[in-house]
Order: sequence, then C-alpha cells, then structure tokens
Amino acid sequence: MGDPVGILGLGTYLPSKVLTNADLEKIVETSDEWIQSRTGIRQRRIAAENENTSDLAVGAAKAALADAKLTPADLDMILVGTMTPDMPCPSTACIVQAKLNAPQAASVDVAAACSGFLYGLVMAQQFVASGTYRHVLVIGAEVLSRVVDWTDRSTCVLFGDGAGAAVLGKGTQGQILSTYLGSDGTKAELLKVPGGGVAHPASHASVDQRAHYLKMNGTEVFKHAVREMSKACLKAIERSGVKPEEIACIIPHQANMRIIQAVVERAGMPLSKVYLNVDRYGNMSAASTIVALCEAVRDGRVQRGDYALLVAFGAGLTWGSCVIRW
Ligand SMILES: CC(C)(COP(=O)(O)OP(=O)(O)OC[C@H]1O[C@@H](n2cnc3c(N)ncnc32)[C@H](O)[C@@H]1OP(=O)(O)O)[C@@H](O)C(=O)NCCC(=O)NCCS
Repeated sequence: MGDPVGILGLGTYLPSKVLTNADLEKIVETSDEWIQSRTGIRQRRIAAENENTSDLAVGAAKAALADAKLTPADLDMILVGTMTPDMPCPSTACIVQAKLNAPQAASVDVAAACSGFLYGLVMAQQFVASGTYRHVLVIGAEVLSRVVDWTDRSTCVLFGDGAGAAVLGKGTQGQILSTYLGSDGTKAELLKVPGGGVAHPASHASVDQRAHYLKMNGTEVFKHAVREMSKACLKAIERSGVKPEEIACIIPHQANMRIIQAVVERAGMPLSKVYLNVDRYGNMSAASTIVALCEAVRDGRVQRGDYALLVAFGAGLTWGSCVIRW
C-alpha cells in the first residue's frame, strides 16, 4: 500500500431556481401526493437559461478548490462525470478547464451516467496513488432539465440540476479505503437518450420522435438499482475491512426514497444512517452522490475519523461504491 489518497476539499453549486411539485402540477397531469409518495421528492433545482453544465461544474470546482486551499494552477487533471455535456464535442471537462484557467490539467469527461462521479473518483484515486498526478479535480455536474421530456410525467418529475466537486490528493482526510465498480451493458435499453449520437443522428424525424429526450423503463430500473446498489454496499465494506456497524453514514445516489429504503434494508443497514437530500434536489444524476457527501460533511453527519459509504447506480447500467474515512 502506498501513501493514502484522500479528499482535500469539497464544493457544490446548486442553481437558485426551485421547481416544486406544485409547479409541476401546472406542467403535466400529476400531484404533489403522487410524486412524494412514489419518490420522496418535494422540489428540484433548475439551471438558468444562460447556465450550462460547465457553469455549474465551475461553480462547484471553485468552492472545492477554496476548501482545499488550492488554486486552478495546482490541478493536474480534471474529470467531469456527466450525462448532459454542454455539447457532444469537445468534452465538458475541457470547457471547465478553460473557464477555470487550469493550464496544467489534462481534462476528460466520464460517461457513466448517475455513477459518473464515483467512476471519476476511482480513476482520480489511481492517478494520485500511482504518483502520476498530485491533484485531481473530480466533478459531477448535470443540467438534466434540458434532456428530460417535459410532456412525460413518468420521468420529468424525477430529475433536477446541480453540481458537486472534490479535489483528490495525498492525505488522510476523506481517505479512500476501498472501491468497487460494475456495469451491465446488456441492460442499456432500460435508460437512455437514443437520439443525437451516430446511431440516430439529429434529423427532423428524430426531433419529431422526441428521440433527444431521456427514456426510461422505471419499474425495471428500480429493480436493478435495488439489487446492484445493495450488493455494491456490501462489496465496498468487505474490501475495506471495516465492520458494517462501524459505518457512520451511508451516502447513496439520491434517485428515489423508495430505492434507498429498499437498498439499505437488503444490505442489512439502518435507514437512520443514510444521508438524504432527494426531497430537496430530486435525482441530479452524476451530481447526486457528491452533493450529498458535501452536505453530509457540512451538516456534521460525517466527522473526522468517521467511516462513510458512498454508493451509486445509473444508466449503462453502471454502479459503484467506496468506503472512505473522513
Ligand atoms: C418512476 C417510478 C417512480 C414509478 O413508480 P411506480 O410505483 O413504479 O409507478 P407505476 O409504474 O406503477 O405507475 C403507476 C401509474 O402512475 C402513473 N404515473 C407515472 N408518473 C406519474 C406522475 N408523475 N404523476 C401521476 N401519475 C403518474 C403511470 O402512468 C401509471 O398509471 P397507469 O397505472 O394508469 O398506467 C418508479 O418506477 C421509479 O422510481 N423507478 C426508478 C426510476 C429512477 O430512479 N431512475 C433513475 C435511476 S438512476
């Protein structure tokens, strides 16, 4: 084992506009009661018209750098987990690098949907552990409000916009003790944005078919999310050598309250240890887990020396988990 790799700083950026369930009742045929009882979501944030994913990412990055007492010039690499890039090419990470003015940083996006931050975290850990880079910025950032179909009540009520960031380097705060990643591409059909790639390029027909919006088989995704996230919890704990009862805080991907309840129940862990913010932000995909970690630390739910378990699941299908000691 080499030197410990840890989290030197954390930051978030949440757009100021709040969209409540009551607001959604005016857009699609739904109700606050339906949304809360099925998902636990009360409201979500929506990016302003002039805000793109890179802007949210930069907001979170600046906060994380300030927390780490570092400057953009200290960054050797920028990884952006996102499924809502500013554009297909170049990467959002390169746009973030320019906006931050981080000239030394290699920059690339991580396309693992809602697991994007966790995949990025594990990649960053490898670069730091190997001694290749000193400081790697990992961001989860999404403007989902521009890829959800606002005529489809079964999906548009679930998602929100936001960003979170972490700076990784050598250190014992937020030390990454174990990691676990997985995927199952045979289930790719369950959650996708079919249009806009080379399989279905943008055309008048693709726009008419609403192919550029997110499509989801909610019931199937629900089942796989519960199965894979509960397994991922146990894998990361087992690899860490920490006892399950020693985990002080569980920080899951915040897609749906019912998924989270089922995951901890299956993993044999108490719901009282889970940090929750799904009620305030909905599912922010790659931003969800990192925003929840930032808030859990800010709120004192994760304190120095505590063990925390992060677990995520998303389109791909993809999933991942890690145990950190704060
Ligand atoms: C989407 C989800 C909340 C639906 O909950 P559910 O309990 O499975 O609901 P059902 O699929 O049984 O739908 C029941 C009914 O509600 C209706 N419905 C769907 N969305 C609705 C809404 N926003 N408001 C009111 N009714 C709605 C459906 O049309 C359906 O009506 P029908 O029975 O007349 O056809 C649930 O499947 C889910 O959370 N899936 C996982 C989604 C997710 O988190 N994905 C991201 C993972 S990273």
